[in-house]
Amino acid sequence: TGLITLDIGLKNTGATKSKITYLDGNLGQLYYRGYPIEQIAEKSTFTEVMYLLLKSELPTEEQLNKFENDIKKNSLVSEEMKYILKGFPRSAHPMGVLSTLTSALTAFNPHAVNVKSEIDLYNASTLLLGKFPVLCAWTYRLKLGLPLNYSDNSLDYPHNFYQMMFKIPTDKFETDEVIVDAINKLLILHADHEQNCSASTVRMVGSAHTGLFASISAGVSALWGPLHGGANQAVIEMLEMIKDDGGDLQKWVDKAKSKDDSFRLMGFGHRIYRNFDPRAKVIKKVADNVFEKLGIHDETLEIAKKLENVALNDPYFVEKKLYPNVDFYSGIIYRALGIPTEMFTVMFALGRLPGWISQWKEMRLNGEPINRPRQIYVGNHKRDYISISERK
Ligand code: CMC
Repeated sequence: TGLITLDIGLKNTGATKSKITYLDGNLGQLYYRGYPIEQIAEKSTFTEVMYLLLKSELPTEEQLNKFENDIKKNSLVSEEMKYILKGFPRSAHPMGVLSTLTSALTAFNPHAVNVKSEIDLYNASTLLLGKFPVLCAWTYRLKLGLPLNYSDNSLDYPHNFYQMMFKIPTDKFETDEVIVDAINKLLILHADHEQNCSASTVRMVGSAHTGLFASISAGVSALWGPLHGGANQAVIEMLEMIKDDGGDLQKWVDKAKSKDDSFRLMGFGHRIYRNFDPRAKVIKKVADNVFEKLGIHDETLEIAKKLENVALNDPYFVEKKLYPNVDFYSGIIYRALGIPTEMFTVMFALGRLPGWISQWKEMRLNGEPINRPRQIYVGNHKRDYISISERK
């Protein structure tokens, strides 16, 4: 009731008060619980960042050890979950598989669904943090038709994820620290981003007191879209297309500018950042390091750099304040790490998981009411029913 404010796309609507992540789109600032992303990406580990987001403070060594153990204790996934996984064709998109498996956790862990206290919340969170990386790695193993790996609890989070993804039982497994370091940084950079589409989805679904796993499953689906997390896959597909088309960058920039063409430069623009995306700056350095240390020459990376240059000097992109976002370079790194294109958004989801959980937890602890936006009705006025024989 009362006057309804119309804000399609919720561009200027504050849906909640949050203490998790601060964003300044004009200054290009991103802070997790007050700590600048540049410092966190350089100095921290993903496990520490998960703790920070969930618990508000950086952990002491003792707190971190306990948290890490609580996650590891939860890293076994019910064997029956494999039937669900194996029911998918190998051609299934890994994000669809991941969303299904995440939702299925509800059935296999019913005790973690009805959270009533902060301890319940913590237990449900560590359960999900323990199982989700296993599920992410399994979507990859399914795609490649490889045997499934389990968690190795003697390893830290990024090393463990690395082995679950890449270890082949018949081969001697060697860890590449450049890759593990890149995974750690990429996960940190994706860990939270305030009220983005998927986080808002998680809060929206959770506001009906739906359980954590089902809410996060909805977040995975929201992230899948090419305007959101799916952009990292779309960037590589676009760069490949430009390469195959002969590499005429100006042609593609012009296409993106044309009002008669729905094509957009994927990996450019952001709802909030109107100056630069601070994550893109960090990620570019990670990309340079990975390519230099692994000695990879990738034509796609060269095209990306040239495209960035052409777009940043084009008045259209300058005027509209369209800069490369986090997804512009992340896909290129994933590719260099040997991760298939369709898996890129799963990597994003793995990083975003602690953010989603923190948002869900904050919403529940704040006692927020069910989210229920209004609309302005623009349909037909009242009219009388016409029986089918009289319809024209
Ligand atoms: N290429 C060409 N033109 C663009 C682009 C682009 N990538 N992005 C925005 N524009 C234009 C758009 O056509 C519009 O022009 P006009 O005002 O003349 O109609 C203007 O810039 C504003 O765009 P918008 O779509 O109204 O802005 P938005 O805040 O609703 O959308 C966005 C933000 C990220 C969805 C959009 O910039 C986009 O589609 N980018 C490409 C997809 C992408 O890279 N997404 C990843 C975002 S960052 C990671 C994440 O969120 O997961």
